[in-house]
Amino acid sequence: MTRWDSDIEGEMAMRDEVGGAFPREGVRPAAEIWADLTAKGRALTNTRIVDLFGRDADRFMAFSAAQQDMLLDYSKEKIDRDVKGLLIELAHSAGLDQWRERMFAGEIVNGTERRAARHNLLRERRPSLAGVADMREQFLEFAEDVRSGKRLGVSGKRFTDIVNIGIGGSFLGPKLAVDAMAPFADGPRIHFVSNVDPWQFHRTVDELDPARTLFICASKSFTTQETMLNTRAALDWAATRLGPKAVEQHFCAITAKPEVARQHGFAPENIFQIWDWAGGRFSIWSSMGVCVAIRAGRRNFEAFLGGGAEIDQHFREAPLEHNLPVLLALIGIWRRNVMKQPAYVLSPYEDRLAAFPDYIQQLEMESNGKSVNRDGEAMELDTAPVVFGGAGTNTQHSFFQKLHQGTDVAPVDFIVGAETPTAALHAQAVLLANCLAQSKALMTGLSEQEARERLQAKGMDEAAVEKLAPHMACPGDRPSTTLMYKSLDPRTLGRLIALYEHKIFAQSVIWGIECFDQWGVELGKRLTEDLLRSVDEPEAWEKEDASTGGLLAWRKSLMNG
Ligand code: F6P
Repeated sequence: MTRWDSDIEGEMAMRDEVGGAFPREGVRPAAEIWADLTAKGRALTNTRIVDLFGRDADRFMAFSAAQQDMLLDYSKEKIDRDVKGLLIELAHSAGLDQWRERMFAGEIVNGTERRAARHNLLRERRPSLAGVADMREQFLEFAEDVRSGKRLGVSGKRFTDIVNIGIGGSFLGPKLAVDAMAPFADGPRIHFVSNVDPWQFHRTVDELDPARTLFICASKSFTTQETMLNTRAALDWAATRLGPKAVEQHFCAITAKPEVARQHGFAPENIFQIWDWAGGRFSIWSSMGVCVAIRAGRRNFEAFLGGGAEIDQHFREAPLEHNLPVLLALIGIWRRNVMKQPAYVLSPYEDRLAAFPDYIQQLEMESNGKSVNRDGEAMELDTAPVVFGGAGTNTQHSFFQKLHQGTDVAPVDFIVGAETPTAALHAQAVLLANCLAQSKALMTGLSEQEARERLQAKGMDEAAVEKLAPHMACPGDRPSTTLMYKSLDPRTLGRLIALYEHKIFAQSVIWGIECFDQWGVELGKRLTEDLLRSVDEPEAWEKEDASTGGLLAWRKSLMNG
């Protein structure tokens, strides 16, 4: 057993109970608050967001909050001061303050797997568990050695290319961080292989020099089918070209199962541990980020961790009404449960955050895509919305049309920086103007009368005006929230990720659901294993449903045809 194992097990033994409800003196039961919120929602139906600005001269101040330079403006949501008060009361009534402390204290908050969720430990400046500090030191030193050339391949050449093999949280976080830290990065190039589709592996390695390539096999469980198959392909590829010694010098592993990695031939000093208490989708702060550290260096990786730690402190200490993750959570609850909006859009106006929506999609939908409460009872409230998005301005030319004129409403989280690391100041101003114009257009819309007047001013004849105006009109009154910060540096990236992590946890508390498990994913994994056994055996297809059996038979005929 390693030093970090024993530290953590000792600590866990002290905290082995999942708590139930908290006594909350002076707070109304949730059902009463929900009833008031529903009534408020109904009352606001015919009030337009723009008119809420007219009614409240301090609206921007009252509906925005900041953490350092990072401002959350939610004044373009359809809420008023009463709604805000009720939502905060709801958070208190759900025991958010207590659940938050329970998570930070390392108590079990993942009830079905009987685990703590301690990803915050991974970003502490001086980790309170010695094992975490030791492991951080170990993987950062490894990263620096790869960067400096102290660590070389079997033929004595420096590594120029790193291939990170992993999927889900073992891919999305590293990919996001590598993209976002691009201006701060001067280390070897990073490539990602996540999909089991062999095309991705071959397309990636075909361009690489084996003697200068290092593979990172990133899998918390070290059993994930896609990652294990790609790891096997990489081991074969490297051994064929570099000989049997390749595995010791060209491969490292990141896993909570170091003994399994050892069985695959990985050298013990090249195995970096993560722990059960860090969920896959919360693991970017751990050795899972080693490719980020190789690319951007220790200092930038530490700044990233520091940003996450800042938000931990803010989440723990800021009063709920000024607490950014809590406010984001409450806005989401209002949208989902009162306004009945089933999806929302994440729209970073920052090309380096193009992967942010994918990252948050896993974080939010895998965490809160649940339909029973902590006691296993069917949920009456809707839980995680569908999350989708992409980098602006690209999205304006793909799906934003529907946001402006479609029949249903998908609110938007806009994310934008004030500065760019390039000298292209005008282009940055254009980007910002686009972002603000979108949120404004969604809110104000364009009435049919305004459309008519515009067309008339252009001299169009009346018949044509009447025909075109209804198509031009945009209903408006579509909500959005904007998050603005100074510049996207490693610290701000850390803040952004931790912000959404805590938002998602806060929502799970209000809904009363398990946030840190993902049992739904397991069923698909098991059925894949079953199907794999019968893919080429026609007699087994009889047992399948008619669709699955029919598709297997069709495939066979295509292959034979
Ligand atoms: O999608 C299910 C899941 O378990 C995720 O939670 C995780 O990020 C991903 O698979 C990869 O898991 P592992 O790191 O164990 O290979």
